[in-house]
Amino acid sequence: METKEEDKSFTSETEGRIWFNFSRRNFLTLAGWGLFFATMGAYLAELFGYKGFFYPKVLFEPSPKFTVGEPKSFSENSVTTLRARKIFVVRDGNSIKAISVVCQHLGCAVEFSKEKDIFECPCHGSKYYRNGVNFAGPAPRPLNHFEIFLDDSGKLVVDTSKVVPLESELIV
Ligand code: FES
Repeated sequence: METKEEDKSFTSETEGRIWFNFSRRNFLTLAGWGLFFATMGAYLAELFGYKGFFYPKVLFEPSPKFTVGEPKSFSENSVTTLRARKIFVVRDGNSIKAISVVCQHLGCAVEFSKEKDIFECPCHGSKYYRNGVNFAGPAPRPLNHFEIFLDDSGKLVVDTSKVVPLESELIV
């Protein structure tokens, strides 16, 4: 006598179509492949994706060379602080200098005191004359002076990658 083998799979009403044959084995196989592809996708995304393993590990910093405006935007005998650029633009008559705000002791940002006409460091009390030369406190040397020049359109350009001697100045 022929016995009909019991089908342990769960089938839908449209039995026979393979995608509706939902046995436990099929489920585990599908789940295994799904897990495999998800893992591979995550791994490949880590390798090749945005900021992945092969993404260059470099710091993107703003260019050290930038324009600061026309000479006339700096009034005579003034000190202008450009915090974002970490420089002072010091104008004395027709002479213009770009001086670093970074203290030569431990790197705090110095501030210009209009009343005293000097630069002062709030951290350990170093003081610098208006020309950037240190005269008090633990700072071992003057503030850095950066190259400053006029471009073709008559705008002032500062290059903080080039430290110049203290005597350097741009005459406008
Ligand atoms: S960091 Fe300026 S005095 Fe120390």
